[in-house]
Amino acid sequence: MLSVLVANPKGGCGKSTIATNLAAAFANSGLKTALADVDPQKSSLTWLNLRPENAAKIEGLNWLKNEGELTKGLHRLVIDVGAGIPKEHFDLLLKAADLVVMPVLPSVFDEATTGAFLEKVETLKPISKGTKPIAIVGNRMRANTRAAARLDAFLEDVGHPVVTRLSDRSAYSEMASRGLSIFDRPGTHSAIIESDWNPLVQFVESQDWAYGIVT
Ligand SMILES: Nc1ncnc2c1ncn2[C@@H]1O[C@H](COP(=O)(O)OP(=O)(O)OP(=O)(O)O)[C@@H](O)[C@H]1O
Ligand SMILES: [Mg+2]
Repeated sequence: MLSVLVANPKGGCGKSTIATNLAAAFANSGLKTALADVDPQKSSLTWLNLRPENAAKIEGLNWLKNEGELTKGLHRLVIDVGAGIPKEHFDLLLKAADLVVMPVLPSVFDEATTGAFLEKVETLKPISKGTKPIAIVGNRMRANTRAAARLDAFLEDVGHPVVTRLSDRSAYSEMASRGLSIFDRPGTHSAIIESDWNPLVQFVESQDWAYGIVT
């Protein structure tokens, strides 16, 4: 099993959007996938409740109640962490993960919170040794804006791979309101999948090869 921890203490930076879309990407490629929710807001579990019967199956795990609970035979696990996570809890969750995905918005507040959190977690061994990479994702990017240019400057020195930049699209909230993701309508969203998501999906999948984890 390959497990992805989607985390950033900053609220609203896109953790649940990324967690739900990634889970749907795996499920739609035929992998047995679970989405673990570690957030009192229960965004991922709410999304799963809206998910149509005929959509690719994703199992929901309520880690607020039973943190670490798993079912047998999973190929992919995506863990959606709530805002405000302290370093100590991140450290615990990191034990259940092979890599971290950390979204950052083009905002000076988000950059500051993310930079401070990265400094803290860089003291953790799996991070400092690079055995569990942190994939940084620039989120809600709008081309040719000052905010995007400043985020780009921040990302240049962030010290972790900047795996992709997701553009700002109303499609995410539209699809989410129906329990869906852009990967459930790949024909309609092929351009975004190709340019924005494939680099992230490929980075996650490359960890499978890197560590020889048998799915
Ligand atoms: N790339 C994007 N384009 C447009 N809207 C986006 C994008 N990413 C996220 N959003 C929107 O931003 C809002 C916050 O996103 P989301 O809930 O995924 O953040 P979060 O980090 O999980 O928040 P929280 O910290 O509260 O758990 C949502 O309304 C979502 O639809
Ligand atoms: Mg969330």
